[in-house]
Amino acid sequence: MESEISKMQLPVVVEDDDRHELAKKPIITADQPLLTPYKMGNFNLSHRVVLAPLTRERSFDNIPQPHAILYYSQRTCKGTLLISEAAGISNTSLGYPNVPGIWTKEQVEAWRPIVDAVHAKGGIFFCQIWHMGRSSNTDFQPNGEAPISSTDKPISPELYSDAIDLPKFTPPRRLRTDEIPLIVNDFRIAARNAIEAGFDGVEIHGAHGYLIEQFLKDQVNCNAPTSLTKL
Ligand SMILES: Cc1cc2nc3c(=O)[nH]c(=O)nc-3n(C[C@H](O)[C@H](O)[C@H](O)COP(=O)(O)O)c2cc1C
Repeated sequence: MESEISKMQLPVVVEDDDRHELAKKPIITADQPLLTPYKMGNFNLSHRVVLAPLTRERSFDNIPQPHAILYYSQRTCKGTLLISEAAGISNTSLGYPNVPGIWTKEQVEAWRPIVDAVHAKGGIFFCQIWHMGRSSNTDFQPNGEAPISSTDKPISPELYSDAIDLPKFTPPRRLRTDEIPLIVNDFRIAARNAIEAGFDGVEIHGAHGYLIEQFLKDQVNCNAPTSLTKL
């Protein structure tokens, strides 16, 4: 039976002289390692092309929207692994507008049809969960409070890649040791919510200078020896 992969038409860049010859051949051949199956734990991936987590800022009021059904299902074929855009674990976790959350019942219910659509096409869907820590500002925080972090040192201002805009970061509040288990618990609940929404797994965002990485970096972690990552 012809696989979904062999039906895919991926764009290739070719020299003009080769164009005519290549047009006669199938672009995708079975011996391309990227397109061979991979067993990832309990999951049988039909190929090794994975949708990376990509923040989209289209989840108004932090609720995933129905248009994401189309977005994610367009990127799915049978046996594809997709990782969702990062979803916030709590109302202190965010620092961009209109990113989705996964800490309320309403958010869980809104994710469900998106996950169902990916499953209907045979995809495997992981939810990425995050807390942005000090990569935030008071505008995103409940009651205009300071963002939380492993430190009270603010991020040094640095222009966005457009070399024009300066992100607004306000000084964070360093978490007390007794507060850290509460954040761990928020991650735990968010992970359970993701499974409740139907996701096949969870990826914890531990990079890009967000809360977990703030605890992982000696220059930023003022909570040693107790850290979020040791609990
Ligand atoms: C617009 C945009 C949004 C992104 N959002 C996330 C995200 O939510 N979570 C994450 O872990 N990485 C995020 N990334 C990083 C990408 O997943 C990817 O790791 C990065 O772009 C490097 O891969 P590349 O070299 O193929 O571009 C984002 C990247 C871009 C360009």
